Amino acid sequence: MVNPPNPAIDAAPAPASDALPAFLRACRGIAGGPEDRVPVWFMRQAGRSLPEYREIRGAGSILEAIAVPELSAEITLQPVRRYGVDAAILYSDIVVPAAAIGFGVDVAPGIGPVVERPFASAADLARLRPLEPDVDTAYVLETVRILARELTVPLIGFAGAPFTVASYLIEGRPSRTYTRTKALMHGDPTLWHALMERLAEMAIASLRSQILNGAAAIQLFDSWAGALAPPDYEHFVLPHSRRVFEAIADLDVPRIHFGVGTGELLGLMAAAGADVVGVDWRVPLDVARTRVPAGTALQGNLDPVLCLAPWEVTEAAVRDVLRRNAGHPGHIFNLGHGVMPETDPSVLERVVELVHREGRCDGSVAPEVAAS
Ligand code: CP3
Repeated sequence: MVNPPNPAIDAAPAPASDALPAFLRACRGIAGGPEDRVPVWFMRQAGRSLPEYREIRGAGSILEAIAVPELSAEITLQPVRRYGVDAAILYSDIVVPAAAIGFGVDVAPGIGPVVERPFASAADLARLRPLEPDVDTAYVLETVRILARELTVPLIGFAGAPFTVASYLIEGRPSRTYTRTKALMHGDPTLWHALMERLAEMAIASLRSQILNGAAAIQLFDSWAGALAPPDYEHFVLPHSRRVFEAIADLDVPRIHFGVGTGELLGLMAAAGADVVGVDWRVPLDVARTRVPAGTALQGNLDPVLCLAPWEVTEAAVRDVLRRNAGHPGHIFNLGHGVMPETDPSVLERVVELVHREGRCDGSVAPEVAAS
């Protein structure tokens, strides 16, 4: 039998589970309701720190694992189950699009991206044809669709920013100095901008396809932009990252912009068009807040290495981040960079618990945090 309509129930507000998730509210800076908590997720939350990851990852290049949608979806879900984080990040890699169009990139275990024939001259532009996501990275989109069905929290899609991807394609392997990259940037600006335009289009195609298949937010990783002086960033990089953000604006998902050692670039990274700027551990959150426009949310910024310290030290550092945020509604708790592989997963569990218990986004500060 069908129950008669009950006006008391029908008039009741939608349950909290139907509301915009805490992570998306914080990205928009509109957290602060009675149900809200400070959302938390961790860069590299899926990966070698998890025994269940090591168990199913298999040997060989990570690119092979990424090409198996059921496996990638499962790896994406593992940290959500274990930690109770407020967002999932797609298990993929920033070099997947370049590899998918046949540029000759692989990811060497323990090293990172390596390129057979690094980008060196105008002739190499021909090796960077446009990405057709539905064909070239169909497996990524299948993973995104599986996750959109199975996840209870928002899925973050991502791409490498033009500069950081360029640095791998030009250096041919991870670098500390970015010598060749900077030499090309300054020595042949025309070629530099042509390369950046191609990589911006690649990021746009990849991000749009992830969003259209179910990603609820995106992060643009410009991990190594901190190697640049602000005027160089502004002239050689910012216009291309801005193009990426503008080209996905119509899809109306939060856009996060992240880099390491980018304290001096935070204002410019916000100006590129981000809704959220990632902050590493070098700049305290209250200082970072003064470097971005009022409407910009911040993500960060516990030093990942502090998760290897005795718990009392980790706990105090988490509280320090919360205290410096001072209950601002535009805060997503994260590490300042990725989880170190040596991290004991139980510490991350405790960090999530602590942030959920003591984090505030209504302008107040928990007593334990204030006292820290
Ligand atoms: O949990 C997650 O963060 C999602 C998955 C993810 C990976 N790579 C999987 C991965 C994400 C978001 C990335 C992005 C990425 N890849 C970045 C930007 C983020 C950052 O760390 O700044 C960069 C610079 C890369 C390039 C890259 N890929 C590096 C430097 C490495 C490390 C090499 C190593 O073995 O230590 C990789 C490999 C990689 N990508 C691993 C993972 C889980 C580890 C190796 C593996 O399991 O095979």
